[in-house]
Amino acid sequence: MAIPKSSVGGDPAPRTVLVTGGSRGIGAGITRELVARGCNVACGFANSRDAAEKLRADAPENVLLVRYDLDDEVTAESAVSAALDRWGRLDALILNAGQWDGGRLSEMDPARWWRIIEANLRGTAALTRAALPALVRSQNPAIVLVSSVVGLIGHAGDTAYASAKAAMIGFARSLAKETGSDGVRVNVLAPGFIETGMTARVSPEARERIARSGILRRFGTVEEIARAAVFLSEDATYCTGSVLTADGGWSL
Ligand SMILES: NC(=O)c1ccc[n+]([C@@H]2O[C@H](COP(=O)([O-])OP(=O)(O)OC[C@H]3O[C@@H](n4cnc5c(N)ncnc54)[C@H](OP(=O)(O)O)[C@@H]3O)[C@@H](O)[C@H]2O)c1
Repeated sequence: MAIPKSSVGGDPAPRTVLVTGGSRGIGAGITRELVARGCNVACGFANSRDAAEKLRADAPENVLLVRYDLDDEVTAESAVSAALDRWGRLDALILNAGQWDGGRLSEMDPARWWRIIEANLRGTAALTRAALPALVRSQNPAIVLVSSVVGLIGHAGDTAYASAKAAMIGFARSLAKETGSDGVRVNVLAPGFIETGMTARVSPEARERIARSGILRRFGTVEEIARAAVFLSEDATYCTGSVLTADGGWSL
């Protein structure tokens, strides 16, 4: 598989980005933002094929649907191969797919607890390993991990999810040190509470309490987080190992 050199400024060829969990929520927003910027997007989906098909229908030339399952390392390899077969290059990887499940430690069944750790972490290493050989050929290669503000400051009822999201930060900072000499930037985005299917399960009372305790006094939108993710993947050319918090000041 030939992988041409890619570049920023001056290169007429569009960037190619693989987005996991691109079918819904924040990932769908990232896909739309990248397409609006003229990028090609390999959009990962696991269960939501119909939603992913709608994204492709809006931009068939620029969106390739790739089946990617956090639990299945084979799909990590096949997702990268599909992007390279279609566009011959990979410039950025946005590791957005994730799962939430909560409960106080004393009340949470250990199997459920470990399930959240595994779901959020396992695919991170597998997909990064699969993508790196292609990424190092880009002139502006980047990896963005979508963590969470609860991985930074904690949240009652979230020991599993917060542990997984905190681990992503350690992963990113170590990987940044490993890949910096190849020019691969690795950064983390830590959103606060964002209006998506993931937070639709939050009760109205908790929602109001959370919104009130943030400085901007509201949940964030998918579009706001998508712009931050795309900034890290494309424009933040002197940032690596950094964590960008996008939480309306909730963690202050
Ligand atoms: N919403 C928030 O308030 C918030 C805050 C901080 C961080 N985050 C993080 O942001 C990321 C996106 O969250 P979201 O709010 O957009 O969630 P969402 O609306 O629930 O969407 C989750 C996405 O992840 C994908 N996904 C779930 N399980 C998967 C699996 N086993 N394999 C592959 N893909 C899988 C889903 O794909 P399918 O539907 O195709 O299965 C979907 O595209 C997550 O990592 C989340 O932890 C969210």
